[in-house]
Amino acid sequence: MNRKIAWSITAGLLLMSTQVMAEWKTLDKSWHLGPPFSLLGPRPFNDVDPQNGIVINAPFYATKIRVIISERCFSRKQKIPLCCWSIKRAADYVRICDKNGTVYKKLFGKSTREETYEVPSNGIRVQVFSCRNSVPETFPNDHIDIDHFEYFIPDGLVIDEHFPENFFWGAATSAFQVEGNSIGTDWWEWANGSPEHCKGDRIGLATDHYNRYEEDFDIAQKMGLKMFRLGIEWARIEPEKGVFSRDEIEHYRRVLEALKKRGIEPMVTLHHFSQPTWFANQGGFEKEENIEDFLEYVEKITNEFKDLITYYITINEPSTLALGGWTKNGGLPPGKNDLKLASEVYANCFVAHARAYHAIKSIQPQAKVSLAKHMRVIIPNPGYLIDDPTLMTKKITKAAGDFMNEAFLDAILTGNISIILDPLSPTIRNVPELRGALDFFAVNYYTRDRMFFNIVEEGNIFGLNIMYRSEQHEYTPMGHRWEYSPDCIYSLMMRLKKFSEDFNNLPGIDHLLEGIIICENGVGDVNDIGLATETMRPQFIIDHLHFLYMAIQDGADVRGYLHWSLLDNFELAEGYRAQFGLIGVDCRNDAGLTRIWKNSAYLYQQIIKNNGLTNDVIPYVKQ
Ligand code: BGC
Repeated sequence: MNRKIAWSITAGLLLMSTQVMAEWKTLDKSWHLGPPFSLLGPRPFNDVDPQNGIVINAPFYATKIRVIISERCFSRKQKIPLCCWSIKRAADYVRICDKNGTVYKKLFGKSTREETYEVPSNGIRVQVFSCRNSVPETFPNDHIDIDHFEYFIPDGLVIDEHFPENFFWGAATSAFQVEGNSIGTDWWEWANGSPEHCKGDRIGLATDHYNRYEEDFDIAQKMGLKMFRLGIEWARIEPEKGVFSRDEIEHYRRVLEALKKRGIEPMVTLHHFSQPTWFANQGGFEKEENIEDFLEYVEKITNEFKDLITYYITINEPSTLALGGWTKNGGLPPGKNDLKLASEVYANCFVAHARAYHAIKSIQPQAKVSLAKHMRVIIPNPGYLIDDPTLMTKKITKAAGDFMNEAFLDAILTGNISIILDPLSPTIRNVPELRGALDFFAVNYYTRDRMFFNIVEEGNIFGLNIMYRSEQHEYTPMGHRWEYSPDCIYSLMMRLKKFSEDFNNLPGIDHLLEGIIICENGVGDVNDIGLATETMRPQFIIDHLHFLYMAIQDGADVRGYLHWSLLDNFELAEGYRAQFGLIGVDCRNDAGLTRIWKNSAYLYQQIIKNNGLTNDVIPYVKQ
């Protein structure tokens, strides 16, 4: 055979292997909204929120969707969906939105049960909203069920989304959530305290990562991870104020060496929620003077491990720490309810970060130091009766966004801290060391919040009974109810692109911001231990990476993505009831703590192997 023909055959075969024949695929999920929201048990896939009912997401590469509403949603006499007798027609409830939530098309007319819809262009989110009546307790049958949902993959689809060279593919963990026996920490006491804490779960052995780190790093290596984010447990290193444990320092040296040996770059978090009880008992970050204690520990770690650690995270998610620990029903220790103290904790974490940043850099100038900032995309929610958000809704949206996102960005750019959690008593400070105190931007992204002003529902963030957030709260673990919003990672990256430009033009700051690393992103499936029941995570990963890829294409300097988490672990206020792991570990029931590769773990391995998204990912979305 001559060479030309052989080449054409090979090229043809290669092309065929990357193409998918046009086909409809049904997502193997259940979309029945069922009885009133308050009575719902765990739902395997859908996001359900009190305003927007069911949200079904087709994968980003779908080009058409087909939706069929359940027969029982239609009244025989009227041939119209039952829900429309209340305020709006069914057409208002089942609709397709683009990635910004803008409604493209209200799908259903009065008596339509089935609709097919073309998705205008690749990268547009397709979401089908099925809204309940606003008073489900009164009209329990007044809801829409989706009987069938399909999406279409076109002929010759080629997914070719490669990430930059040397991209840090990785996973993240924190010390007390995986290590086990986190004795001497405030979290250990909290979880062992009232049975109302952590849904009655105790930390116990957790995944026993403290003893099984070699096995876990073997898994990480097999998965292809290039970076691994781990926490050092301060209470182990310094069990009593001023007393450092040589044994524990040696333990973490072995842990870090075990990663290095496998070619995996460690990223070390110095404070990830848990802290020594002696520190917590003296008020922790409530008091600015306590920052000195944190600095002694930070300096100790840097001096001990400067040969092994390059990437440092000083503090994880100050907003979660402050809201979770110091607002009503926050679910995290110390379980106080005091908005002023919450603001102080938030501000003191910024200050502690700045001082830790300079302390680390003075010992190890080449270190790369950041703070893991939880950021959420916060948008106004349209009202029930009118589509436009009200003026108050807009104001609350702005205030929440300032608190959650902008306060930190401003502090780094200007050195000014302005935290307005309690409008009557804002926390305002000028801390010059904060200006420019970042080497790269570490961001944790999970979900977006839709805000709306509501005088009836109880307030959350501001503790004033005037505001209600339609999604779960910062201090509530993601679980299965957090809104699925992969597109928002794009808008977030665009915001951080602008921030990076501002940072890099700061007068008097002699270093540039070295890109962005997503230090956490993941999803808490409930009861998804093992391969059998995992339904959401694979598509979650694919869709988030797709929008991250789009952001990189549009100029965001993203250098890494660390999935939360490598292992199922102790999920804060949810105890062991929400599983975030690529690897399943049944900490409550399996005495052997067997590590189980989930579908998403294999998918992630494949993505890392290809350095991005290719047609190889398609089979991982559960059909
Ligand atoms: C925290 C993790 C937590 C995860 C899921 C993040 O906000 O840093 O500790 O497990 O969210 O809720």
